[in-house]
Amino acid sequence: MQGILTGKTGIITGALDEQSIAWKVALKAHEQGAKIILSNAPVALRMGTIHSLAEQCGAPVVGADATSQQDVENLFDEAMNHAGGQIDFVLHSIGMSPNVRKGKHYTNLNYDWYQKSLDISALSFHRMLQVAYQKDAIKQWGSVVGLSYIAAQRTFPDYGDMADAKAVLESIARSFGYHYGKKNQVRVNTISQSPTKTTAGSGVGGFDAFFDYADKMSPLGNASADDCANYCISLFSDLTKMVTMQNLFHDGGFSSTGISADLMEKFVS
Ligand SMILES: NC(=O)c1ccc[n+]([C@@H]2O[C@H](COP(=O)([O-])OP(=O)(O)OC[C@H]3O[C@@H](n4cnc5c(N)ncnc54)[C@H](O)[C@@H]3O)[C@@H](O)[C@H]2O)c1
Repeated sequence: MQGILTGKTGIITGALDEQSIAWKVALKAHEQGAKIILSNAPVALRMGTIHSLAEQCGAPVVGADATSQQDVENLFDEAMNHAGGQIDFVLHSIGMSPNVRKGKHYTNLNYDWYQKSLDISALSFHRMLQVAYQKDAIKQWGSVVGLSYIAAQRTFPDYGDMADAKAVLESIARSFGYHYGKKNQVRVNTISQSPTKTTAGSGVGGFDAFFDYADKMSPLGNASADDCANYCISLFSDLTKMVTMQNLFHDGGFSSTGISADLMEKFVS
């Protein structure tokens, strides 16, 4: 299908490098005819290669720390300037835990960092939605997507406080999805993605082992960042107009599988 986002404009946050899920979403949104605005934290703009992506997509880049009210307001103002009015979609692709990054065990968390994890990875989703809602920045039937992980429902010990952040993120999609749906038919969903080899993913202890484990457990194997981007595009499009307030598993069947033959083989002596 070609051009399913033609005439639409959206904000895409979180493209750090070519591995980033958001990077792939930006390329596909552009390919499907959307006009996009790229955003990331100012420090990431200095470190990353977002400007080459911006060139490929003909997109402006707006620095915004997702925990700053002023930055998020400015991001939506800039996006509406670029769109010449309301926008159609938003991708929240933001996650970071200082506790996970610094190897703090879940039973020995630093609480200042815990608050940072929640602020960056979950409350920022609410902040973006609230700013958009109050500025009436998103068109009727617009779509907002956040990226989650199954550690929100089941324990993955090395995922630490990010599991709590993802549980809050998914809850925000349900709660805000109700209000935004009533106000303006704006849809809010999270996609619960397979482990994916990106900077954020690889920062989790034991990542390679649970990447391989999930791959063997899932009948379709792990979903790639490219596949995730395709799913995001479908949610931004008009083909999914009645989908809202959902956490949508995009994981090759992992979440519904108890045990796979591939894994059982490993335990047969
Ligand atoms: N990689 C995986 O295994 C996996 C699995 C499921 C869900 N996710 C989620 O997908 C999303 C994107 O992550 P990714 O895997 O593409 O990794 P990534 O490291 O490429 O992207 C994470 C992004 O968050 C941005 N960010 C961090 N702090 C920020 C702040 N204060 N303000 C604005 N942006 C900030 C980073 O600059 C980076 O671009 C995250 O929410 C992540 O938790 C990832």
